[in-house]
Amino acid sequence: MKNIVILISGAGSNMAAIVRAAQQEDWAQRDGARVAAVISHRPDAAGLAFARAQGIAALALDHRAYASRAAFDAELAAAIDRQQPALVVLAGFMRILTPGFVARYAGRLINIHPSLLPAFTGRHTHQRAIDAGCRFAGATVHQVTADLDAGPILDQAVVPVLPGDTADSLAARVLTQEHLMYPRAVRACLQRLAALSDAPPKPPTAG
Ligand code: GAR
Repeated sequence: MKNIVILISGAGSNMAAIVRAAQQEDWAQRDGARVAAVISHRPDAAGLAFARAQGIAALALDHRAYASRAAFDAELAAAIDRQQPALVVLAGFMRILTPGFVARYAGRLINIHPSLLPAFTGRHTHQRAIDAGCRFAGATVHQVTADLDAGPILDQAVVPVLPGDTADSLAARVLTQEHLMYPRAVRACLQRLAALSDAPPKPPTAG
């Protein structure tokens, strides 16, 4: 079984959308994949209760208990590795990860970011899109690399910015699209990784 580990910080609505899609589309039968664990660095993350109610292992690792970012990331990696994950999914995970952590999961670590990257990396993306007079906003699923919100783009969803929009109203419109896009992108990643691992080894090059 290909294990998916999802990291969250709060509500976990994208995580819930992935869990529901996996159930409704029967990823276990069709893709040999399942959401194996949900991990948060915040013990009060609402999404942990949802995961537990679905029978998914849910773990809180309080980042405040660790002396450094590297110490926390090492413990996080140990918890993730216990699941032997095919894919690690950041879903509203609001912590910067150390380069060592990112390198450990290179090619199998993805994130969803609430803007049309490469525009508006970082925080407050919706307010910044409104302030800039953007007519369109959206969200991006991308591979995670050592540079913040800059890895290769896997998918994007676009919504209009409407007159009178606030950061909250725009965020809600974008989030609805995130819930459609992220499960699709996760499944596509699993299928791409499976195709890569099934591919015959390349013959050695001459010379
Ligand atoms: C989502 O909008 C996601 O794109 C964003 O946080 C929200 C989490 O919602 N992620 C980031 O800003 C990452 N930099 P959720 O917890 O309900 O899925």
